[in-house]
Amino acid sequence: MEPSSAPPRRGRVPWQGLLLTVSLVTFWNPPATAQLTVESVPPNVVEGKDVLLVVHNLPQDTIGYKWYRGDQTDSNRRILTYIIDTGTIFMGLEHTDRETIYPNGSLLLHNVTQKDTGYYTLDLIRKNPLSKAVTGQFRVYHGSSHRNSLGLSTGAIAGIVIGVLAGVALI
Ligand SMILES: *[C@@H]1O[C@H](CO)[C@@H](O)[C@H](O)[C@H]1NC(C)=O
Ligand SMILES: *[C@@H]1O[C@H](CO)[C@@H](O)[C@H](O)[C@H]1NC(C)=O
Repeated sequence: MEPSSAPPRRGRVPWQGLLLTVSLVTFWNPPATAQLTVESVPPNVVEGKDVLLVVHNLPQDTIGYKWYRGDQTDSNRRILTYIIDTGTIFMGLEHTDRETIYPNGSLLLHNVTQKDTGYYTLDLIRKNPLSKAVTGQFRVYHGSSHRNSLGLSTGAIAGIVIGVLAGVALI
């Protein structure tokens, strides 16, 4: 087989961005395995709006959740602990009264500010003592002009970070 020649470079950034997004979706969504992931809905938020951190593929023996700010399970940065059975919430040091936790583990943050930008980590409390943490991320922007000018490329960046960390959590 002869080596395929490289396509001419015309600076087609939007197309490259599209390719990148597609390969990421394939990477962190393998069809055969139900992998625990956290998704930020929407991925990028305008200041003053709400964002939902949705948990996908929760293991069946999950009995509670711990949500943290940052990319680690640091007890000083815990937002809250939630026990599903009793609906009990233990507030952590990073609790701000703007959070709503749902029985399915999803965390709603109300009225976000730019200080809320960054990583959020979920640690599961399970009957089976194997603990497993996953991290998700979102960004907060001022107004709509920022959001429009950044568009696709920032979505791709957030995807990279989430994909890589979800992969690490599997190991
Ligand atoms: C969890 O519950 C919230 C609130 O009812 C909902 O918006 C979200 O989609 C649910 N997550 C999943 C993965 O079903
Ligand atoms: C949202 O937060 C800002 C301060 O960051 C506050 O002034 C405003 O009243 C809040 N809005 C709501 C609906 O809580």
